[in-house]
Parts: sequence; C-alpha cells; structure tokens
Amino acid sequence: MLVVEGQLPAGTRLPAEREIADALPVSRTLVSAALDQLREDGLVASRRGAGSWITVPSGVFRPVTDLVPAERGLIDLARAAPPALPNLAAAMDAVRLRMPEHLAGHGYHEHGVLELRKLIADRYSARGLPTSPDQIVVTSGAQHAIGLALRLFTGPGDRVLVEQPSYPNALDAIRSMSAIPVPVPLTSEGWDLPGIAAALRQAAPRVAYLVLDFHNPTGHRLDAPGRARLGELLRRARTPAIIDESLVDLDLDGDPEDAPPPMAAFADELVVTIGSASKSHWGGMRIGWIRATPDVAHRLVSTRTSVDLGTPVFEQLLTAELLAGSDSALRGRRVELALQRDVLIDSLREHCPGWAVRRPSGGLVLWCGLDAPISTRIAVMAQSHGVRLAPGARFAAQGGLERWLRLPYALPSDVLRDAARRLGSVAALVAGSTTAIDGDLAVPVA
Ligand SMILES: Cc1ncc(COP(=O)(O)O)c(C=O)c1O
Repeated sequence: MLVVEGQLPAGTRLPAEREIADALPVSRTLVSAALDQLREDGLVASRRGAGSWITVPSGVFRPVTDLVPAERGLIDLARAAPPALPNLAAAMDAVRLRMPEHLAGHGYHEHGVLELRKLIADRYSARGLPTSPDQIVVTSGAQHAIGLALRLFTGPGDRVLVEQPSYPNALDAIRSMSAIPVPVPLTSEGWDLPGIAAALRQAAPRVAYLVLDFHNPTGHRLDAPGRARLGELLRRARTPAIIDESLVDLDLDGDPEDAPPPMAAFADELVVTIGSASKSHWGGMRIGWIRATPDVAHRLVSTRTSVDLGTPVFEQLLTAELLAGSDSALRGRRVELALQRDVLIDSLREHCPGWAVRRPSGGLVLWCGLDAPISTRIAVMAQSHGVRLAPGARFAAQGGLERWLRLPYALPSDVLRDAARRLGSVAALVAGSTTAIDGDLAVPVA
C-alpha cells in the first residue's frame, strides 16, 4: 500500500531480511515469504549481492514523478471541498475590528454565540421552518455535529439506518460508536421509501442518518412529497432522524424559491437538522450547527461539554458576518460550480467513454458508474498518475460499490480536464491489466 500511495518510491532500498524481522518483530521465514510475494507482484526487485529495492510493475504503475511535476502535487479528488469564497478576507478584517467587545468576556459559548444562532435560526424560518435561537447549537463543523447527534441517540450495538451509498465520515462516526449502519440502497431515482419503511420495521434502528439535499455522493434531492411520506414513516416507527443539510446551499440549477422545505418541517419533533458553512463559505472555518427542538438542543449541549466547551468565537463571528452580508459571492460560487460540473462531465465522456455519468442538480460531486467492478483498482492506480480518489467502497456500509466512483468538481476547470485525461489513461491500463489490487484505500475524504 505504501508503494502504490507513493510513500515508498521506486528505488527505495529495503533493509536486509534479518533487520526487517528484528524491527517488526516477526519471524525471518515470514519476512522471506512476504518479500517473495512482493517480488511476484512486481513491487520489489532483488539481486544477489545488491539487496532488494522497491520497484513498480512496468505498464501498470508509473512513478508519480513521471507524470506530475513535483510542484503541482496530487490532484485531490478524494475531497469535495472548494476553496474559500473571495469575500472571506474582508469579513475577517471586519470581525477583527469587533473582537475587543468579545475579548472582555469569558469566550465560552457552549450553545454558540447568540448573534450567529439568531442568523441561523432566521434562515430556517425563511425556509418555512419557524426556529428560535435556543433551537440552534453551533458546532465545529457538520462532522462534529454528526458525532454529537449520534452520541445522543445511539450506543454500542444500536442500529443506524443509512443510505447506501452514504457519506464516509458519517459511516466512520457510526462505527466509532460501535453502532451498526443499516444500509438502504438508493435507486437510480433516489430514495426507496418502501425500502426505508421495511428497514424501519425490520431492523428497528435507533436513529436514521440521511442526506436529502444533493446527497453525497449521488447528488439526489428528495422532493417535498417524498419528505412528507418519509415524515409519516419516521412517525409511525417513532424513529428520530439526523438530517444532514451540509450541501443545501449548493443548488446549481434550480430556483431556491422552488426548493423543498427542510425535512424538519414534516416531522419537527423527530428531526435533528445539521448544517454547515464548509461547502458554502469555507471548510477551514470549521463551523457547523444543529437545529433541534429546544429540549434536544439542550441535551446536545450537555453531551458536548464532556468533549469541548464551545466553538472558537472568531470563526463564529466570521460566519455571522458572512451570513449577514450579501450572498453574491455564494451565487458566484454556484455559477462556477455548475460550469466545473459540466466541464468534468464532458471531459469524462471524452476520456472515459465507458463510464456512466448522471448530471446532479446540486452539490459537489459526480457519482460515476464504471464499466466493471474496478473502483479500488482505479483509485490505487490513479495515485501513480497524480490523482487521489476515494473508491466506491468508502461510501458503503459494509464494502462493495466497486462499480462506482465519486468524482468531485470542486477544483478549477483546467485541473478537472487534466484529471479526466489522467483517469482515461488509468482506465485503459486497468482494462488491460490483470494485476489484482485489493485492500482499503484510507485516503482522507470530505
Ligand atoms: C454530507 C456531508 N456531511 C458532513 C460533511 C462535513 O462537513 P464539515 O466540514 O462541516 O465538518 C460533509 C463534507 O464533505 C458532507 O459532504
């Protein structure tokens, strides 16, 4: 794995068998057998008297340096994370001037700074879901919010209903609590509500975790009638739901006026809504939030204080400044993302004609259907072609999804064209090779 990730470059000399055996420590026979296997796979070469060194099988992997100028590094398509909006620097200046009034206080805001909570609450109210500031808890990103909400509803051995595919870091959060994800596959049209009804009945999950707005990774959005039906199902099963709205602001084609109401408008008492400024403004601020009933919000804060005592004040004020200001920068981002999405689709059609790409109406990613179950092989080989990818299996509750690959369009158009061209070469190599590659590709994902 270190070889294909480029951390052990071709030519790296390996210690003698005895030294490896002492350092690990394992038996010399095991080391010898492992080296034989690596030689067979073409990842290690040895010559009597000269020792052993890392190599790459010709025609399958090529060293990263052949293809990627060192200063450019890898094209990171594992994270779907755009850069900061251009108005962020000016907002920072404005907040710096206002900091003295906050510096006189203690700076601990377990619920979040009131000014920001008011602005977030008003946005829900404007979307048809009346909300007061005591229903908002500001968190350090949506991921933190997911963790807090899961801690409130689940414990070891509990089942959590999720979509299949789902957001990998949420799946990791569920597993890290020793809870069990119960996947309900999405169809090509989106949510299989009868399937969700059956899973609610049969698996009796403690809670559901769902992304209904520009679902990561498929890009689907559940319409208002679907939300109403889902609300009925949750009520009937008395199952609470964590609804992750991290991508809700990235509606690339539609008129925001036509957007379906938030899921909580259909089952307020059962829904905990998660929001984030990461995709709409910048992930580096690490600002997210939870909207819940006042009672649940209070309990979430009690859960939080064993782990942290609030989110940094400066970043909260910065988010408030951005939310209170004009949304022209965000509108510009939507236009730019729509363009990048279309560039990536066109480039993939040119360079990877065997892959099926659906055009999502929002969000940050394409969910590509591959022509064979080769997602991990593509992702592994792509590293040596200068592209970092998260294979389909990362989006699965229990492995699989090898016929799928998520490709974000958060990078500039010329980089996306370059990435598609490289992926075309990788696809051709994978189609022509029989080298087996398996195992997990643990790249960081967003
Ligand atoms: C569906 C979803 N939830 C949560 C997150 C994490 O967001 P944050 O950066 O606010 O923690 C992401 C980021 O990609 C996401 O796509």
